[in-house]
Amino acid sequence: MKKQNKEADVLPLKQSSADKSVNDLAKEIKELKQQQKSVCEQAVRSILQALDCKDHYTFGHSLRVTHFALKLGEEMGFDDETLYDLEMSALFHDIGKIAVPDAVLLKPARLDDEEFLQMKQHPSKSAEILEGFEPFEDVAKNAKHHHERYDGRGYPDGLKGEEIPLFSRIILIADTFDAMTSTRPYRKGLPYDVAFAELEEFAGSQFDPELVKNFVSAMTKDRAEKSDTFSLKIIEGQFKKDAA
Ligand SMILES: [Fe+2]
Repeated sequence: MKKQNKEADVLPLKQSSADKSVNDLAKEIKELKQQQKSVCEQAVRSILQALDCKDHYTFGHSLRVTHFALKLGEEMGFDDETLYDLEMSALFHDIGKIAVPDAVLLKPARLDDEEFLQMKQHPSKSAEILEGFEPFEDVAKNAKHHHERYDGRGYPDGLKGEEIPLFSRIILIADTFDAMTSTRPYRKGLPYDVAFAELEEFAGSQFDPELVKNFVSAMTKDRAEKSDTFSLKIIEGQFKKDAA
């Protein structure tokens, strides 16, 4: 009995000091993660500034695509952490356009075959720019595959269906929607309903059909809010839903 009592006296003390150090460690890890997040966000802003210098339209497009992708993510019930990762991937999806020559990227007319081949390099270039930095490994993969098609006829790797990362499938829909609805100096953007019909026509061939359904529902709600601006978490400011 005596021995048992002794152990009982000592054990809670040991546990409490162990708890304390575990708590300290957990606190330190949390702080380190927060610091890493903050450094990553600074890197995102700097790299996006470079994209803005290269092509202001592509910069604005990247922000709008991010907003549209997040609306789809919210519609699908993603938690905050997943939405944050999606925001990061969407912001960077076209960063590889930095590597596309101005004469091709800024050409206000249809690209010829050679120019189109150069333009098609941009998802792989996005991945090359991002994949050397460990925290951006997934972001690099999601950017690399944002022009894959659901039927396997996309690029760069011809991935099919759910072989294509989920965020890449989401970004493709948001990307195409912005390309259709944004107004350019040489043409007016399409109304949302026309863009919805286009997405629905290519659901199952170009796009993941389930995601198209969720996207149309999300964007119908977004339109009903009648706000022509949006904000993001990583990049500060109010941005216009219509093109720059
Ligand atoms: Fe793209």
